[in-house]
Amino acid sequence: MFGAGNFGQRYIEHNSGTADIVGAIDNDCDLHGLKLFGRIPVYPVEAARGLAWDRIVVCNNSGDIVRAEIHEQLTGMGVPEGMINFYPEEHMPEWIDQRRGFFRDFSCYASLNTIDGAVAECGVFSGETAKFLNLYFRERRLYLFDSFEGFSEEDINSERAFEDEAFLAGPLNKVGMLRQPSVKVVMDKIMFPDNVVIKKGWVPDSFEGVDDVFCFVNLDMDLYAPMLAALLFFWPRMSQGGIILLHDYFHPELPGVKRAVDAFEAECGAVCKFPIGDGCSLGIVKP
Ligand SMILES: C[S@@+](CC[C@H](N)C(=O)[O-])C[C@H]1O[C@@H](n2cnc3c(N)ncnc32)[C@H](O)[C@@H]1O
Repeated sequence: MFGAGNFGQRYIEHNSGTADIVGAIDNDCDLHGLKLFGRIPVYPVEAARGLAWDRIVVCNNSGDIVRAEIHEQLTGMGVPEGMINFYPEEHMPEWIDQRRGFFRDFSCYASLNTIDGAVAECGVFSGETAKFLNLYFRERRLYLFDSFEGFSEEDINSERAFEDEAFLAGPLNKVGMLRQPSVKVVMDKIMFPDNVVIKKGWVPDSFEGVDDVFCFVNLDMDLYAPMLAALLFFWPRMSQGGIILLHDYFHPELPGVKRAVDAFEAECGAVCKFPIGDGCSLGIVKP
């Protein structure tokens, strides 16, 4: 953990038993040599090079600027960005949510293996996933696509035409059900906003003018038509080794997601698919 002050001590209280905290590092030399709660040693920041850790949790609540400076100090020492977490944003989900763990690990893997490109999410809703994509991939451009008006009438109607009982009886069989407050709600959660590009509008129309290559894309629009359109748009734009994640592939009331993957493979050929272990998302890797 980075930060041996009050905030860091609160982190220890919250995480004793779930995290194996090997030490605290801090820029305040008055704290070096102390043992927090009588057991967790405090070291100078440079000492992190000699400690065995698998992530560094920044425990500092002095605002975004100081937190960004700490991030810079750590990356300047060679700590991969995917191994730097921020408390309290992630202290619960970080260890219980496989998907966020996947984002973190893949951001690190992509940096280590030079998988270039931007990141995108289609289907942002209130930004609960986008904020983690922004945190883990903070040095990459992040495109956020959403109508910010829920589902389109056209997409819902084409979904109904498949006559899937599970979908017709399910809770999402309503236009506009996922109406969300505003872009501001999303941006208020974003810690590193400079690299974020909001694309408000209907997929696939909102893809117009997007000229980029991608390293990681999270597709979470629930329905067949926009999911298939997004797959067809991003696939040729993925870097080698890049990953597209399809949320809700295993959701019993959202059969359109699997149907979109099947249609995509029928058109583009079989792709390498893998479940990420969160119970709902399927990954596909660009060869
Ligand atoms: C399940 S929510 C996304 C949840 C979000 N990824 C999260 O983790 O919190 C689905 C979103 O897809 C958006 N959406 C569905 N169809 C769309 C389309 N054709 N174009 C743009 N956005 C769409 C909806 O507005 C909604 O916000």
